[in-house]
Amino acid sequence: MNILVTGGAGFIGSNFIRYLLDLSDEYFIINLDKLTYSGNLENLKDVKKGFSERYKFLKGDICDREKVRDIIKNYQIEAIINFAAETHVDRSIKEGSKLFIRTNILGTETLLSEGLSGNIRLYIQISTDEVYGSLGEEGIFTEKSVLSPTNPYSASKASADLLALSYFRTFGFPVIIVRSCNNFGPYRFPEKLIPLLITNAIEDKYLPIYGEGRNVREWIFVEDFCRAVYMVMNKSKLGEVYNISTGFQKRNIEVAELILKKFNKGKDLIRFVEDRKGHDWRYSMDFSKIKNEIGWNPGIDFERGLDDTIRWYSENSRWVKNVKSGEYLKYYEKYYGL
Ligand code: NAD
Ligand code: DAU
Repeated sequence: MNILVTGGAGFIGSNFIRYLLDLSDEYFIINLDKLTYSGNLENLKDVKKGFSERYKFLKGDICDREKVRDIIKNYQIEAIINFAAETHVDRSIKEGSKLFIRTNILGTETLLSEGLSGNIRLYIQISTDEVYGSLGEEGIFTEKSVLSPTNPYSASKASADLLALSYFRTFGFPVIIVRSCNNFGPYRFPEKLIPLLITNAIEDKYLPIYGEGRNVREWIFVEDFCRAVYMVMNKSKLGEVYNISTGFQKRNIEVAELILKKFNKGKDLIRFVEDRKGHDWRYSMDFSKIKNEIGWNPGIDFERGLDDTIRWYSENSRWVKNVKSGEYLKYYEKYYGL
């Protein structure tokens, strides 16, 4: 199967490409990525070496209609998995929402409408628990819950979900939506909570915690999420939405304290800082639909995933240094002529 993976140089996309190529030789993958600040070809260095016949990277923007059309036609694309997005909530609040609207909504529209004229058998939209909005201390979201996003990032993701579903209803375009809780694991850009806390702990820097740190996030190890997407690709019904979550819910302060404990460092490294504007209190999703219909369950518990993640960041100090300094941008020119 020829698959167009978008945003494959980012955190989840790069983990997914590696997962799929390792798993089966049935797939030929085109990775279309704009290489924004969070896209990093270093995430895929080993993939490039081992799988050159089944993998190709193309630099480009999912909003570039002609490019998307040419790729779908020239590579006889049969499936599109859309990971590409502007993903950081704080940036959508502090730096403006325009880029989020452009990539997350208009980019999705481009893939859907260009996909219509190709021979696409499957389109997976990678979405988020944030589209449901915020919960208090009680409650859980199912796939039938009302969409009620609260920040520009989540509003753009909810819009993309609705647009994708409209393409299924109107045109019979083969859309499936997966909504994930918060992923963690190797190759995550260290502006997000877990990699930021780990890399700061390694460097004896303060761990910034918003407000009082009592907000709750639900965590999934990235390999578990990749396995879920793979199972959805192969077993699910078109036009459906699947929540992918774990029940591993933690307050942010608990995560910070656990990470410090793993490094044998004191809680005095924690700094409470100004809260995020409109900070969602808690996310929690019911994943019984994917469990019952597809047979997926989380396999890696939070602490085991955290240990693996800490090990990875500790052993990849060069990656961390390059990413934190922006140095990695130079690699594009050196290795890929981009
Ligand atoms: P990321 O920020 O690490 O990666 C995003 C990738 O998209 C980058 O490689 C970037 O260069 C690329 N990109 C951005 N704009 C583009 C454009 N216009 N054209 C082509 N490529 C572009 O993000 P991630 O954490 O890997 O998230 C991947 C997807 O999963 C996103 O759609 C996100 O909304 C969704 N998601 C993420 C999480 C999570 O916890 N990480 C949870 C739920 C859903
Ligand atoms: O839930 C899925 C979402 O998870 C994805 O859709 C988003 O793309 C992804 O960025 C992530 O969003 P969050 O806002 O949950 O992740 P973030 O790592 O930014 O923050 C996690 C929690 O930690 C949140 O309550 C804010 C808090 N936080 C975050 C940072 C960066 C801190 O307390 N301190 C920090 O420095």
